[in-house]
Amino acid sequence: MTSAAIGAPLDRVEGRLKVTGAATYAAEFAVPGLAHAALVQSTIARGRITRLDTTDAEAAPGVVDVISHLNAPRLPRLKPAATLEGSAFQTVLPLQDEVIHHAGQHVALVVAETLEQARHAAGLVKVEYAAEQPRTQLEAHRAAAYAPQPVFGMPPDYVRGDPWQAQAGAEVRVEQTYTTPIEHHNPMEPHAAIAAWEAGDKLVVYDTTQGVHMTRAGLAEALGLRLNQVRVICPFVGGAFGAKDSLWPYTILAAVAARRTGRPVKLVLTRAEMFTSVGYRSPTVQDVKLAARRDGTLCATVHHCAAVGSEVGEFAETAPEVTQVLYACPNVETRLRLTGLDVGVSSTMRAPGEASGSFALESAMDELADALGMDPIELRLRNYAETDPDTGKPWSSKALRACYAEGAERFGWSRRTAQPRSMRDGRWLVGWGMATASYPSVGAPGAATAVIRADGRAVVRSGTADLGTGQYTVMTQVAADALGLPPERVTFELGDSEQPYAFVAGGSSGVRSVGPAVRLAAEAARAKVIDLATHDELSPLAGYGPAAIGVEGGELFLEHAPTQRESYAAILVRHGLDQVTADGRVDWVSTPDDHRVNAFGAQFIEVRVDPELGLVRVQRALGVFDIGRVINPKTARSQAIGGIVMGIGMALLERTALHPEFGKVVSPNLAGYLLPVHADVPAIEAYFVDVDDPYVNSLGAKGAGEIGITGVAAAIANAVYHATGRRVRRLPITPETLLS
Ligand code: MOS
Repeated sequence: MTSAAIGAPLDRVEGRLKVTGAATYAAEFAVPGLAHAALVQSTIARGRITRLDTTDAEAAPGVVDVISHLNAPRLPRLKPAATLEGSAFQTVLPLQDEVIHHAGQHVALVVAETLEQARHAAGLVKVEYAAEQPRTQLEAHRAAAYAPQPVFGMPPDYVRGDPWQAQAGAEVRVEQTYTTPIEHHNPMEPHAAIAAWEAGDKLVVYDTTQGVHMTRAGLAEALGLRLNQVRVICPFVGGAFGAKDSLWPYTILAAVAARRTGRPVKLVLTRAEMFTSVGYRSPTVQDVKLAARRDGTLCATVHHCAAVGSEVGEFAETAPEVTQVLYACPNVETRLRLTGLDVGVSSTMRAPGEASGSFALESAMDELADALGMDPIELRLRNYAETDPDTGKPWSSKALRACYAEGAERFGWSRRTAQPRSMRDGRWLVGWGMATASYPSVGAPGAATAVIRADGRAVVRSGTADLGTGQYTVMTQVAADALGLPPERVTFELGDSEQPYAFVAGGSSGVRSVGPAVRLAAEAARAKVIDLATHDELSPLAGYGPAAIGVEGGELFLEHAPTQRESYAAILVRHGLDQVTADGRVDWVSTPDDHRVNAFGAQFIEVRVDPELGLVRVQRALGVFDIGRVINPKTARSQAIGGIVMGIGMALLERTALHPEFGKVVSPNLAGYLLPVHADVPAIEAYFVDVDDPYVNSLGAKGAGEIGITGVAAAIANAVYHATGRRVRRLPITPETLLS
């Protein structure tokens, strides 16, 4: 059954709440008796605490408690999220001993009556250290690299065919190294938690998180509680980009402080603390070797990546993964290694792996096209993977060819002249570049409950999250479609761990995984009402089977005689029912039998480069994407545009610098960490080739969250090369680089 609900550009159902300030975010919940917490952070990156004196802090006005390794409860080492068994990337928790693993490590927490008192007293905690020389530079310590545990099931080493043998026979080679810096997510809403213990030893936490069930499980693990002793609430998230798809120590510390003080405790990270406490995208050093025949056919591809490892947790940026699936090359080797540094643990950041991996691979493909004198799109079509090149299985759907064609047409690619520096506009050098976008969405477990009420409205619930992405709206559409109700008579509720289980809204899994569960629940509730009517002599539908019944506008009707109809409300009222409830759930479906799921796209960029100033301006950005079926073209387009904006930041602006000697973030603020602002972002065009994917799930939707950023950095670097003849293999591409 389909209705206008699916595929309609519905406005955000929570939009009014947000623009009127009525949407309540984690730090805004009014909890009586609230105390405020402030962190004390390590000023060294490696060594030990030799003395920690809290006397002055404890004596300061308003102070309720000062917690450090001297008096904190012992907490266990957590199970790592990267294995899918745990909830945390940071598995080694702070305030456990005197050992310092990274700058900014939490060494004390001050709780006071007001935030100002807590901050003041935090400044009075005296800490002395025995400092050691920290390891801070990925490239300097690469020799000590080690193989990580598999990340989300991806082993660190992969090979098919014999790339070393095949390389020997190739006619054209590209062998280059590409590097990406540390990037921080910097969502507008900083991380924040309010923790309160209620009667019966129940912990209630308001936290900003991509998964209330994940946070609940992690808190239970950290604090030795049963799941049903913890409730996590998060109706709204002010941006996340992966920074909130793990449990971080600040939430646990808020709960510890609340227990010790017997007060609800609020802990909000400052912008500076966001640079040390809640993950980042690992820097990478990526060696790519492409070997091809003169006609552009790839003979061998090798993609090795070094990323950062930490003593406090497990995660690895899986950059080479994209090289396993993107092109039909028979001989491929990928390798992922970590270099242990004295830094906090890295984590998932929008399109983890693919965002940085596609920069290297798609830059190298552009270099190969240049070496062959071949059009970059033609080179990609020459190596088009008709089936999954890893397993030989068919794709659940793949409309990448259509993405290239529509993108090239809309962009005007045929007017591009191949020679670098051949296109100009006055004094500006003009460059056109393109790259392929690719991201494998995750099919995670999810569950939902649907309630049809006697007032003719429906409420559907699932403990998922809306990161600002449109989950509220899209799930309303899915439920409305399955129920045969107009969307304005459906309310979708999320963000409470008392609701049915949903996996973290990460890995582009939200619509793909929660959507089918919502649909199943709604269909089951609808079926119950149909069953009531068809077994009810007073109903015009009496005696018919369910297959004969349709639903529209909240009314059941006979498909062959549509005037015979009655409403949900009438049926429930006649049966004396307030409501009818049903559940739906889906399990892990990451790899549906016999098919591989991947979203694709083509990114096109025009840059203008000032030859004297080295200034790069993105003049046009255009992406065409295959995400399967588009449930809501408005929110999906918004996702794609957001991803492209983030790609512009990745290519030209974003970089966190660590002091090479001391290992501290040099400028932990939004003045030092540059993000694209309006003047950096052109009018972006984003389109979808709306294909029905019959295999991915019952909705045909592959997931839209991450695909938009992938390929953008390479497309910009390729455009800069086309404009200037300068190949920049180190992000971000700055004026200094172009002028040097
Ligand atoms: Mo994501 S980076 O899996 O939220």
